[in-house]
Amino acid sequence: MATSSYFLLFTLLALASWQTIASDPSPLQDFCVADNSSHVLVNGFVCKDPKDVKAEDFFLAAKLDMPRDTRSNKVGSNVTLINAMRIPGLNTLGISLARIDYAPLGENPPHTHPRATEILTVLEGTLYVGFVTSNPDNKFLSKVLNKGDVFVFPEGLIHFQFNPNPYKPAVAIAALSSQNPGAITIANAVFGSKPAISDDVLAKAFQVDKKTVDWLQAQFWADNQN
Ligand SMILES: *[C@@H]1O[C@H](CO)[C@@H](O)[C@H](O)[C@H]1NC(C)=O
Ligand SMILES: *[C@@H]1O[C@H](CO)[C@@H](O)[C@H](O)[C@H]1NC(C)=O
Repeated sequence: MATSSYFLLFTLLALASWQTIASDPSPLQDFCVADNSSHVLVNGFVCKDPKDVKAEDFFLAAKLDMPRDTRSNKVGSNVTLINAMRIPGLNTLGISLARIDYAPLGENPPHTHPRATEILTVLEGTLYVGFVTSNPDNKFLSKVLNKGDVFVFPEGLIHFQFNPNPYKPAVAIAALSSQNPGAITIANAVFGSKPAISDDVLAKAFQVDKKTVDWLQAQFWADNQN
């Protein structure tokens, strides 16, 4: 094999193994139900003894058929996430689920999931959705989704969903490729961090004056997730 072929093979192998560690690790057994009484810190949760595992460990009466309150935060949305903290049997399985309710003109504001790709379907209403690719292109890909449509948000990329209808609410169900996808809401993380990031830093980063940054930092940055 020519040196260039070896180099290509090496590069592909390196990419493939990086890809493996970029998502949740694969399970080494049928399941590893989270033992919430353990204080041992591992990546994920310690397994409870398999002989004590019950169907309830894989179950949650989550009432995901019921509408959520979208008026208690300024963005007008409510994310109900079912992750490994809610269903202990999800530990090590690399998947989670969310119901998202949107008020008329409500949005799930720009955010990223540091550990998951997301696939979303609209159950009711219309959603304007999009994501932005990483530097240097920062290409914006967007779409209007109607009931029954499906859209994918790639792992780690900034994305949002907005309900453009001023009269009707919208509802979506999303699946995420991590037992604990995590969420970083851009505005909250940047302007609502505790303690605050210095306004010198943010004024330069956003190319605005410090008063604008101070005003943004003084807003109430509520989370829309439960
Ligand atoms: C741990 O799980 C048990 C049974 O699933 C539950 O009753 C208990 O409240 C949980 N404890 C904590 C600290 O979450
Ligand atoms: C979501 O809705 C539930 C009730 O439907 C409410 O208890 C909860 O506070 C709401 N959460 C947010 C973040 O608005």
